[in-house]
Amino acid sequence: MTNDDVTYTRPHPAKYSDTVLAAGRLLLEKYGLFEVTDPVDGTQALDPLAGTLKIADAIPELEWTGIEIEKEWANHDERTVHGDCIEVMRAWKREHPWAKFKVIFVSPAYGNRMADPMLPGVGAGRKYTYNTYTFKLGRLLSKRNGAQYVFHRKASGAKYRKLHIQIWRAAVDVLEDGGIFILNVSDYLCKDYANPIAVTDWHVGVLTRMGLVELERVAVDTPRNREGANADQRVAHEWVIVFRKPAQEIH
Ligand SMILES: C[S@@+](CC[C@H](N)C(=O)[O-])C[C@H]1O[C@@H](n2cnc3c(N)ncnc32)[C@H](O)[C@@H]1O
Repeated sequence: MTNDDVTYTRPHPAKYSDTVLAAGRLLLEKYGLFEVTDPVDGTQALDPLAGTLKIADAIPELEWTGIEIEKEWANHDERTVHGDCIEVMRAWKREHPWAKFKVIFVSPAYGNRMADPMLPGVGAGRKYTYNTYTFKLGRLLSKRNGAQYVFHRKASGAKYRKLHIQIWRAAVDVLEDGGIFILNVSDYLCKDYANPIAVTDWHVGVLTRMGLVELERVAVDTPRNREGANADQRVAHEWVIVFRKPAQEIH
């Protein structure tokens, strides 16, 4: 089997935690997204950084589409389009400007050391295993993959921010007016800095400047943050943040 085969998959290092999915489900219910307004097409929902599209099985009430840049992760679910989500969403906007999603639910890579590039069988990867994107994929990440960047490093962080601004712009453009955008993200600790690296506020700032209105921020305790050698140095929780796109988009 090769990685051109649609059945070839690799494990994913950063799937949604069940606690995040449970919080997301409560929020979607609270904001009326499980009420059936379109009995033919259902409620269209998008995860543009889908990984394995775990969310689709956890929340089957919505009609999910995923986008994922790495084929071995996109292959986990046939509802996932394989490609760079910026290009895919821009093409949808161009070719089907009337077709928009009612819900976007998304978790970007947090810009932490999960971006480290160790490969199995190479250097330290001969001796150790790592729960990082590259190690789990078993090859280098694609050029436009936002999971390769470290937020607090100067050049790498600038690339992380530039790419994610493009991702959020394209995502907001395919969200319908009045639609709900749910972001799962986390700050992280770094030994060279006294305070946690403020990844969450950066994403919230960008999305707010694009016109989304923050409705609610829920702190979620996740087992993911307690795994690994530095478990006692992990931040206590992740965030699940709900935004609404107002009827009139502000640019
Ligand atoms: C934090 S993970 C999401 C995992 C997912 N929530 C799950 O449960 O499997 C972020 C994902 O975004 C993907 N990604 C990063 N940049 C991308 C891009 N430009 N287009 C599409 N996918 C991208 C990465 O490969 C990674 O799988």
